[in-house]
Amino acid sequence: MHSPPPLQWREIGRPDRPPVLLVHGFPIESSMWDAAAAALADAWRVILPDLRGFGASAPTQAASMAEYADDLALLLDSLGIDRPALLAGLSFGGYVVMEFLRRHPGRFGAVGLIDTREVPDTPEGAAGRRQAADRLDRGEPVSIVADPMLPLMVSPDASPAFREHWRAVMCRQSPVGVAAALRAMADRPDSTETLRSCRARALLVVGARDAITPVEVHQRMAALMPRSELHVIPRAGHMAPTEDPRSFASIVREFLGPGTERG
Ligand code: MLT
Repeated sequence: MHSPPPLQWREIGRPDRPPVLLVHGFPIESSMWDAAAAALADAWRVILPDLRGFGASAPTQAASMAEYADDLALLLDSLGIDRPALLAGLSFGGYVVMEFLRRHPGRFGAVGLIDTREVPDTPEGAAGRRQAADRLDRGEPVSIVADPMLPLMVSPDASPAFREHWRAVMCRQSPVGVAAALRAMADRPDSTETLRSCRARALLVVGARDAITPVEVHQRMAALMPRSELHVIPRAGHMAPTEDPRSFASIVREFLGPGTERG
């Protein structure tokens, strides 16, 4: 009997097919994957967690990268999944996936690092995150984080409706959960050696116009990982799988191949 993970999740697709676990970015929630998951639903069991403090999951006062990663392991335990075919995370979700690699090596078939980076924050960047977390603690709204991030999150071509939708999603996240994630990101370690020693197949995907974690970062990560492949989605920004879910899904389909599609 496994204890339930302290998070909520949804499943899309075929329960009899190999699992694919997709971890959302910051400060958003699992709905960022919905269109991509729908495009994979014919052949995979797509599992979409809301990390603690985000989406439908309960707010959390404090959390470390280790706790976010362990929550995913507990989720796999509770679903009876030994190794998902693919464990992938976008940006913050990618930081959590890199922590998962350290803490639960071998507990995935392949790893996906999407619009993310392996290096930690600069001291100035970490200080800025801690200041923002303190402002949230003092009662300021999540828009203090969302408004400066939004222009960097989406590509310059994104429609006003797309921007407005994602601003609304950001602003409805729990300030407590957002503050906890800011502090966890500020504290996260360097994952360079984690990627260098990863022997699993790795799928790296980035939007060509990602302004937060640009293409060069993914080229550097690909060079570290002996079994990696890198795909650049033209025109997309930092939320590449959300901006162009069809391209993302076809990259995943090609990467996982017919072996996993047959289940
Ligand atoms: C994200 O999309 O998750 C964020 O850009 C991560 C970060 O702020 O480093």
